[in-house]
Amino acid sequence: MAEIIERRARQSVLNALSDTRVVVIVGARQVGKRTLALEIVKSDFPATVINLDERAVRESVLADPAGALADLEEPAFIDEVQRGGNDLLLEIKASVDRDNRPGRFLLTGSARICSRHGGPSRPSPAGWSSSASLL
Ligand SMILES: Nc1ncnc2c1ncn2[C@@H]1O[C@H](COP(=O)(O)OP(=O)(O)OP(=O)(O)O)[C@@H](O)[C@H]1O
Ligand SMILES: [Mg+2]
Repeated sequence: MAEIIERRARQSVLNALSDTRVVVIVGARQVGKRTLALEIVKSDFPATVINLDERAVRESVLADPAGALADLEEPAFIDEVQRGGNDLLLEIKASVDRDNRPGRFLLTGSARICSRHGGPSRPSPAGWSSSASLL
């Protein structure tokens, strides 16, 4: 059962990457977001991988989100994007507004990250990305 759901999500992520600037894999904790993204990167969508669960990576992104993003070779898979804070999301938004080619960023994050009810103080990628939910 889980296998069928994942395969379907895998293809929808690939389809989204072909026509959308930012694709977010969302889902509950431990559902397999990182595993699916890494599999996609390995097989069909070569990308730089960074993981904001790693402290050194997180600290450098939090200290200078714009610089960190500018230094990132694209396309890029950013795991645990919510840990980069609102400023990272705003920088990603600004970056894809400047350059709207599809498939620039593959993100994974907690389900909350894509909520449309973020409010003004919490930027949400919901309006400027595709999301695939892992159940
Ligand atoms: N398709 C799969 N088949 C079997 N095990 C899997 C599969 N996908 C993920 N797992 C296992 O489930 C666990 C969680 O996977 P993963 O880290 O990819 O999930 P996540 O959604 O990114 O988790 P987190 O909420 O901690 O960020 C890992 O131990 C991983 O090996
Ligand atoms: Mg994860």
